[in-house]
Amino acid sequence: MKLKNKVAIITGGGGGIGRATAYLFAKEGAEVVVSDVNEGSGQETVNRILEEGGRSSFFKANVADPTEVESLIAYTASNYGGVDILFNNAGIGNSELKIEDLSIEEWDQVIDINLKGVFLGIKYVIPEMRKRGGGSIINTSSLLGFKGKKYMGPYNASKGGVSLHTQNAALEYGKENIRVNAVAPGVIDTPIIDGWKNDERKWPFISKANALGRIGSPDEVATAVLFLASSDASFITGSTIHVDGGGLTF
Ligand SMILES: NC(=O)c1ccc[n+]([C@@H]2O[C@H](COP(=O)([O-])OP(=O)(O)OC[C@H]3O[C@@H](n4cnc5c(N)ncnc54)[C@H](O)[C@@H]3O)[C@@H](O)[C@H]2O)c1
Repeated sequence: MKLKNKVAIITGGGGGIGRATAYLFAKEGAEVVVSDVNEGSGQETVNRILEEGGRSSFFKANVADPTEVESLIAYTASNYGGVDILFNNAGIGNSELKIEDLSIEEWDQVIDINLKGVFLGIKYVIPEMRKRGGGSIINTSSLLGFKGKKYMGPYNASKGGVSLHTQNAALEYGKENIRVNAVAPGVIDTPIIDGWKNDERKWPFISKANALGRIGSPDEVATAVLFLASSDASFITGSTIHVDGGGLTF
């Protein structure tokens, strides 16, 4: 088991990628705190882990809210004795509008959740990881953190920011044995892409727009996150693994 005796927090753990990663982490021996704004779906993830004999609990937190993120870390440290792994994964898409039509409120919301949420997770988890003598943080960027797409302004900006912030944190905390990496998924089969799936005109192109000619599954992202979280990636920090079927090359 690759994560035996490790304590992991997963934000957005009620959604597709977060849930698949929570199952895999638990299978590999980690105790998993599943967090999400959606209590029902987050609790469902926990229930399945418990049914399979793992250790897990749910903590509701909005990643854009500093007090809630701080409480999530404090809850985990006091109930599980510390934190070894943080998967900063919660995120949202945006309404596909031209820049001039996009509301300022929506811009702020996407940046707050996707980018400030990652900053907050790192900010509050570092003192706990320092107490453990190290740790591994994985942030969810996106193919759209590396490639501009029309009408995806705030999402593009937030995910591009996640990749660079990953490098900031890797540089600042590497000497304390805290590694910070990111995954950049391409099109993955989760509810976040429902809008594209329902678009009969765009979907035939979007669903095949990479070298492999298909979309990915949440499990295919989870295995990359597990690799980064585990000691298999002990000399890897500041990196982004592209889990996109070659989408960046396309
Ligand atoms: N599915 C894809 O094609 C794809 C591609 C690239 C990147 N991503 C990224 O992967 C991550 C996970 O997305 P997913 O595909 O599993 O989608 P998803 O919608 O299934 O999961 C996202 C989860 O985040 C939660 N969430 C939303 N806002 C939150 C907040 N403020 N605080 C806490 N939780 C919040 C949602 O309730 C949901 O459970 C996101 O960061 C997303 O941007 C997804």
